Amino acid sequence: MNKIYNFSAGPAMLPVDVMKEAKKEFCNFNGLGISIIEISHREKIFIKIATETEENLRELLNIPKNYKVLFCHGGARTQFSIIPMNLLEKKTKTDYIISGYWSEYAAKEAKKYCNVNIIKIIEEKNGKLSLKKINKWKITNDSAYIHYCPNETISGLSIHEDPLFLKNKIIIADYSSSILSKPIDVSLYGIIYASAQKNIGPSGITIVIIREDLLLRNSSITPSVFNYNILSKHKSMFNTPPTFAWYLSGMVLKWLKKQGGLQEIAKKNYEKSKLLYNTIDNSDFYFNNITKKNRSLMNIPFKTKEPKLDLIFIKEAKKQGLHSLKGHKILGGIRASIYNAMPIDGVQALVDFMNDFKYRHS
Ligand SMILES: Cc1ncc(COP(=O)(O)O)c(C=O)c1O
Repeated sequence: MNKIYNFSAGPAMLPVDVMKEAKKEFCNFNGLGISIIEISHREKIFIKIATETEENLRELLNIPKNYKVLFCHGGARTQFSIIPMNLLEKKTKTDYIISGYWSEYAAKEAKKYCNVNIIKIIEEKNGKLSLKKINKWKITNDSAYIHYCPNETISGLSIHEDPLFLKNKIIIADYSSSILSKPIDVSLYGIIYASAQKNIGPSGITIVIIREDLLLRNSSITPSVFNYNILSKHKSMFNTPPTFAWYLSGMVLKWLKKQGGLQEIAKKNYEKSKLLYNTIDNSDFYFNNITKKNRSLMNIPFKTKEPKLDLIFIKEAKKQGLHSLKGHKILGGIRASIYNAMPIDGVQALVDFMNDFKYRHS
């Protein structure tokens, strides 16, 4: 059997070394004779894991001291509601930048709590999609915050510019599918959030990086388990946290440090995506409809000339050990998600298959 490579958009592949290590110690953690999933979150040994995970995240992302890191339940979709519940204070207006499915969904959810100014930024020219530059976004003066999604996982549309706005603007970013893929300047944001199941660890935990002064904006009816200030005061242990996901995410962060940190990871991600985009662009058989400046380095959707052929591609690829290449149901086609854990060999195996498939079906 060929080596298996998993191109799933999430839950996505994790570093093999991390999973082997977790397997080794699963039934007997640290010589205790019990599993990590059986240990109380109040035990010293778990607190140590939790603290180290936060420290490593802070180091990798260079998180400034005036930011708190919260480890939450509920996935990124829960944040879609928790954010307005926590940040409106007395304001009623918010700005939501729409660049695809996830940012649109975040806006839809926010409409339950506030007036949402929708700012659509997708443009189409000659069949190619691009996004309006940040200085063209029509932000309102008195909004409580601006929300956007730097990497749209389904369409592969990405905003690579830094969100440079007036100093007093609060920027919130859904980094679910691109966190830890490259260094970012955390100080530009009010909140960065990301569910874990793409670039951090297994599903079940969501990371929220929040500027300290924003902790006090919630309204009195914000449920306690969703109240950022309460979560922060209890070091994300107000109720029982998803301990296994926290532990495994911590191991992924250690693995990232061993890879040389985010500068090195960013170089690798660039090389991987270049290999795949070049294969698409240098053929008249595969097509990606996004302009170069807005292409995702994590999620790369493409199509052949016929939907029928796309399905054959996906089926044959799976037989060759290339898993989960089916595009999202709303777009169809093929999508390769190549997060941090995907080695260049996996992308090379995909490219070799693409060349062979093209040869056989042209
Ligand atoms: C960018 C983005 N935001 C939000 C979500 C929703 O995440 P969750 O399923 O953790 O709620 C996803 C899921 O794929 C996503 O890619």
